[in-house]
Amino acid sequence: MIRTVITGTGSYIPKNAVSNTEFESHEFYDKDGTAIEGEGKTITDKFKSITGIQERRYADSDNNASCIGAKAAKIAIEDAGIDPETIDQIIVAHNFGDVIKGTFQTDILPSLAARIKHELKIKNPHCVAYDILFGCPGWLQGVIMAHQFIQAGMLKRVLVIGTETLSRVLDPNDRDSMIFADGAGASIVEAVESDKEIGVLAHDTLTHTYDEAYYLYMGPSNKPESDPNIRYIKMHGRKIYEYAMKNVPDAMKTTFDKTNADVSELKKVFLHQANEKMDEGFINRFYRLYKQRDLPEHIMPMSIHELGNSSVATIPTLYDRAKKGKLEDHELHSGDLVMFASVGGGMHINAMAYREP
Ligand SMILES: CC(C)(COP(=O)(O)OP(=O)(O)OC[C@H]1O[C@@H](n2cnc3c(N)ncnc32)[C@H](O)[C@@H]1OP(=O)(O)O)[C@@H](O)C(=O)NCCC(=O)NCCS
Repeated sequence: MIRTVITGTGSYIPKNAVSNTEFESHEFYDKDGTAIEGEGKTITDKFKSITGIQERRYADSDNNASCIGAKAAKIAIEDAGIDPETIDQIIVAHNFGDVIKGTFQTDILPSLAARIKHELKIKNPHCVAYDILFGCPGWLQGVIMAHQFIQAGMLKRVLVIGTETLSRVLDPNDRDSMIFADGAGASIVEAVESDKEIGVLAHDTLTHTYDEAYYLYMGPSNKPESDPNIRYIKMHGRKIYEYAMKNVPDAMKTTFDKTNADVSELKKVFLHQANEKMDEGFINRFYRLYKQRDLPEHIMPMSIHELGNSSVATIPTLYDRAKKGKLEDHELHSGDLVMFASVGGGMHINAMAYREP
């Protein structure tokens, strides 16, 4: 039987670490333009206590989203040991395209996938390269799409990348900007013939737009009298939190139940890194849906404390680091049953169950 297996992974985590301390001198305002009073350190301490984030990474000015995406892709290709000319599709998930540092314009002509294919020097015209805009769940959605193409017998080998430079679209006067970060992760997703039940086992995707479409949006700076023509990433954080808490654990259960495995078999859950407390809430609620109050040890690898929320890149970078044995207590072994789940702008939610080959 044809299975969908991730045969190579790669990531690019920018070296430039920006700690919470660097935000202490910012003037912060609420969305209604009211100045947020208090010492800078009190605000950043509060921020840390509600998100878990201590620092985040920003890409250097000469690295755009497509550059770091290509770097992650080269590592994934090498890891899989494949000839890049044999890749059938390149799917690149992002939200803002290339934003040249110091400008506020999204540049998606050509698409990031076309730029990355060019950078990889792939000549094969049958390697079809395109972008997807799916909020933070974009990389996971790319893997689910690759799986669907593979199971339909249309493709054999897909390069799926998540890359983002959110540092280029941040309002320095908005406290929520401290959440966001830059990064890129990539994976080679392949059709593998096997009698064993390995690779992608189940998945689920949801899009809620009736009330939720503008929970994440573009808007002017919170600082009064700022140029209204310059717009930044904005969110209704509390609404997202409540929406996610209500829907993500259910989507995870729907997915897991399709595997027919017992929940005790689950070894790791790779969650989108947006907020430490939110992720802890997801995992607690997920196990409670199985009437289990105690969590298994080392079930949830996390990178939010040092890497912040790099959108589409959080899961593939985390997974890459686990695959390469770089996360203490989070090694992966053949036969391990793992889950991935994400939530983000759109609003979209997805989840996937996967058995390590
Ligand atoms: C944005 C978010 C961190 C705010 O946390 P919260 O616990 O919901 O915050 P609340 O609005 O209830 O406010 C609680 C307190 O934190 C403060 N606060 C809110 N946002 C803050 C921020 N970004 N930094 C510092 N303090 C903040 C409030 O002023 C309030 O302070 P008080 O207790 O002194 O009155 C949180 O809602 C969140 O992470 N949401 C999900 C966002 C997300 O996932 N976005 C990306 C999707 S891909």
